[in-house]
Amino acid sequence: MTQPAILVTRAIFPEVLVQLRQHFDVESNQDDVIWSPQELAQRLQGKAGAFMTGTEKVDAGLLARCGQLKLCANMTVGYNNFDLAAMTAAGVLGTNAPDVLTETTADFGFALLMATARRVTESEHFLRAGKWTRWSYDMFSGAEVHGTTLGIVGMGRIGQAIARRAALGFGMQVIYHNRSRLDAAVEASFNARYVGKEELLQTADHVMLVLPYSADSHHTIGATELALMKPTATLINLARGGIVDDAALAEALRDKRIAAAGLDVFEGEPAVHPALLTVPNVVLTPHIASATEGTRRAMAALAVDNLIGFLVHGKAVTPLNPEVLARAGA
Ligand code: DGY
Repeated sequence: MTQPAILVTRAIFPEVLVQLRQHFDVESNQDDVIWSPQELAQRLQGKAGAFMTGTEKVDAGLLARCGQLKLCANMTVGYNNFDLAAMTAAGVLGTNAPDVLTETTADFGFALLMATARRVTESEHFLRAGKWTRWSYDMFSGAEVHGTTLGIVGMGRIGQAIARRAALGFGMQVIYHNRSRLDAAVEASFNARYVGKEELLQTADHVMLVLPYSADSHHTIGATELALMKPTATLINLARGGIVDDAALAEALRDKRIAAAGLDVFEGEPAVHPALLTVPNVVLTPHIASATEGTRRAMAALAVDNLIGFLVHGKAVTPLNPEVLARAGA
């Protein structure tokens, strides 16, 4: 019996390809070439599924050219590369990889918060440049983290894992803003208080962004919001580029309107707004919040489970547009 054909769009653990080849005729990309939308569409010809990494745009234009496509399986929890409405209209299922990266990403949120507030990278650059000649009482004096107020925007699974660390590990007061309020029992488990966005920005000593990107969350933080924050505050973006207006942030950092920022994601990444590279009070990392080997393997395994589940057995594990499943009678 011929196996369904699938495309693996980017380089991945070799074991993942071995597993996929037991069920599918696999075209892979271990040289990790970044394909243009045209090339992606061309390589998707005749493919029933795609293993994706969250960077490939799946929109109406692509779908119109890929009539045999049934499933796009992201190995990431974020899925702003998918136009879900267009996928649903075309009868193409989208899946993502939630849960498996929650704790690792929350760990990194704290790494970025600590590095930003305590000026870890800025002071390391100073040391590496041979500028450290003596100890002094105010050298690289940073902001307190323990016992301060953390404002979390976006209180999904990752936001809650960060809130737990903040309350139980660092004795912080947690305030949060979200589309919907959490159950009282969940709020109580990390002593969190629901507030409006304005109050959060005005009150928090540290602001952490963990909300998904959509047209509605575009530039959730721009010049107006930055102006509301305390001049001593830090801002951490762990979510997606585009949630922060990076040009406005670079200006606020340059003018010391906020103390510092820690960014793992950027508008138009892998490009980084050039002004961000010129200010010292920002910690920059290349979208690595979920990057531990165990977690990246677990994320890939969930995408594999979705491909095998849906294309072989008719059942997906983490469907994003289950209407497609219902229509297919799965
Ligand atoms: C995700 O899973 O969405 C992370 O940002 C990794 O891309």
